[in-house]
Amino acid sequence: MAAVSAIEADSLLVELVATPEGRADPYPRYATLRRLAPVHQSALGFWALSRYDDCQQLLRHPGVGKNFSGAANSLGLSEEQRAEQNRFRNDRSNMLTTDPPDHTRLRGLVTRAFTPRTVETLRSRIVALVDDLLDGFGSGEVDVMDALAFPLPVTVIGEMLGVPAEDRPGLRPLVRAVTAVLELAVTPDGLAEATTADMRLQEYFAGLVAERRAHPRDDLLTKLIEAEDKGDQLSERELISTAILLFAAGFETTTHLIGNGLLALLRHPDQLARLRADRSLLRPAVEELLRYDSPVQIAVRTAYEDLSIGGHHIQTGSFVLALLGAANRDPARFSEPERLDVGRHEGAPMSFGGGIHFCLGAALARLEGHIVLDRLLDRFATMELVGGQPTYRDSLTLRGLVDLRIHFAG
Ligand code: HEM
Repeated sequence: MAAVSAIEADSLLVELVATPEGRADPYPRYATLRRLAPVHQSALGFWALSRYDDCQQLLRHPGVGKNFSGAANSLGLSEEQRAEQNRFRNDRSNMLTTDPPDHTRLRGLVTRAFTPRTVETLRSRIVALVDDLLDGFGSGEVDVMDALAFPLPVTVIGEMLGVPAEDRPGLRPLVRAVTAVLELAVTPDGLAEATTADMRLQEYFAGLVAERRAHPRDDLLTKLIEAEDKGDQLSERELISTAILLFAAGFETTTHLIGNGLLALLRHPDQLARLRADRSLLRPAVEELLRYDSPVQIAVRTAYEDLSIGGHHIQTGSFVLALLGAANRDPARFSEPERLDVGRHEGAPMSFGGGIHFCLGAALARLEGHIVLDRLLDRFATMELVGGQPTYRDSLTLRGLVDLRIHFAG
């Protein structure tokens, strides 16, 4: 690659991960990066992949994993904060942060609860929950993030896991604060808030585990406790960490599927009208909304051996980013990728990742997405964006809206 392209690719990457402008509007930057340097090693050492096939190859490669202890710390952190960032990185207590064999063991304990068949049994409950929430809309203006996109998934995962309804709203800001550590450029303030929030979540779930151990119920937390009590299946620390992961992953991302998805439809009234006229498009439409503006934009791996990806040699120990949002707009994989097309049948996007860490909750998130769209279209003849353009949260790994004001009628 010409030196000038490498410099341009580097500055695009810095813009993407480290500036509010880049995080708010990543897609044009992904497109330029993919054109200039689709497999790029930045001046900071890490690699970034922006093509679909390369991202798939990385995530499915048996020679990559989740040990990030060799990764560079974010800039501007004190010695103490570096230690704190490394503490998060070295946490090996749940499936998202472990490699086999621990990953296989921890994931295996809960996979059955998330298979498409098990999740389908939740359909009528989810429809009832959506209808209840829509009853509260009346006719008029609503912030959909607060009135639907958050309460629905948090209720669904809260009920599955056994987190009491009255506790769920208070846990939302804690989960949000902890997700700051998923960002590549975590700030000192973000890190401090994540540390405090993490402690509070651990305390809360430790208390809930103790309570549930004394009073078992028919929920996922009780099943995990039973597994722990059998002895060698998981430790108390893994139990608490797994509960926090399931709870957090269960709503934080699906909230943004609903928000980003509705925004994309409102900005493309022709596609909304097409879906309204033909509900058989619900499935491809949810895949398309996931592709078009994915709630998760980046998955990261460490190379445990030398890799050959897209004709490049990636050395053992390298830190490699799969830019999922870029892969989803790769013209080699999706025709006219910048266009929203709810009837697209070109295969699954990369929004749920790939390989052994492929999203455990994909079937659940899809089901919630289908039901929300279906019920909204049944209940309201018109939906219009109110006010100016909604604001995205200032983060890239997790991409979603702060608020989304919609006027519903009919
Ligand atoms: C639209 C919504 C969702 C999106 C876009 C999404 C995306 C993802 C992605 C990209 C990964 C892989 C991360 C990596 O490779 O490092 C992942 C993993 C995971 N997701 Fe989701 N997710 C969603 C909803 C859910 C839901 C509803 C749950 C329910 C509990 C869930 C639970 C998990 C878990 C437990 C993992 C870790 C799997 C493993 O490491 O083996 N997700 N998700």
